[in-house]
Amino acid sequence: MDIKGKTAIVTGAASGIGRATAVALAERGAAAIALVDVNDIDLRETAGRVEAAGARATVHRLDLSDIAATEAWFAAHGDVDILHNNAGVVSGLPQFPDVDAARIRWIIDVNVTSLIAATQIAVQAMRRRGGGVIVNTVSTVALGTGFYDAMYATTKAAVMMFTRCCAPLKAECNVRVAGMLPGLVDTPILDTTGAGGKSEWMEQVLANNEACEPKDIAGGVIALIEDDGLAGGDWLAVRRLAGKIEYQWGHADTV
Ligand SMILES: NC(=O)c1ccc[n+]([C@@H]2O[C@H](COP(=O)([O-])OP(=O)(O)OC[C@H]3O[C@@H](n4cnc5c(N)ncnc54)[C@H](O)[C@@H]3O)[C@@H](O)[C@H]2O)c1
Repeated sequence: MDIKGKTAIVTGAASGIGRATAVALAERGAAAIALVDVNDIDLRETAGRVEAAGARATVHRLDLSDIAATEAWFAAHGDVDILHNNAGVVSGLPQFPDVDAARIRWIIDVNVTSLIAATQIAVQAMRRRGGGVIVNTVSTVALGTGFYDAMYATTKAAVMMFTRCCAPLKAECNVRVAGMLPGLVDTPILDTTGAGGKSEWMEQVLANNEACEPKDIAGGVIALIEDDGLAGGDWLAVRRLAGKIEYQWGHADTV
């Protein structure tokens, strides 16, 4: 898809990968970007950067753990060319099995239920308007066999499978759904793994892996949006290895 002149929604746009993607979309000539996050103060900073890059920005405070509010918001605002379902949360402490049930429901609602609800409403609107592109932020943990945060890994694996299962939408209604799989990225989410900061397990991850910058991931999201040759259900993993950004492409049928 040629991004120039298009309309977009970015969730989790107050920070990190979402903010970088919103700015990258504006730099590519998007006309208008709806910025969604639970943190409306930092959303305003993103809006300023998006407008400086030449796109119209609107700021929307929405808590994606509130599924009824999410459905209502997308019913009112979800008719766009591009949707980046990017907001996400980690479990924090205590981990499963000591985590309480409300927190389990919260991570599933933010990372999975709201993403499926947003996608459903956006696909219906995109079908009416003749097509669109949806990029879901997954994680490279969805490619692995284990990760310390069991609930986070489980939700990301669910989003990965959902993305791959959306592949037929390209043929059915010209809606291409793709997955962005960041490796380690230096963003504030890492500071929510422990009690009031980074957990010990995250300190270990950081000691043993190189972190990407949000703009590295935003570049991958733009590549997924622009490549209409992709079949649908495709994914791109982005990692930093030996100082270089590495790209791993996969498709709906890649196991
Ligand atoms: N940072 C990494 O290493 C990494 C790696 C793989 C995947 N990811 C994924 O990338 C995505 C973006 O994360 P990030 O690294 O930019 O972190 P981040 O903390 O900078 O951004 C996440 C954003 O989501 C927002 N958010 C959280 N809960 C919300 C809710 N209930 N409703 C609305 N917005 C909410 C936060 O306010 C924040 O602005 C997430 O889905 C995350 O799982 C991150």
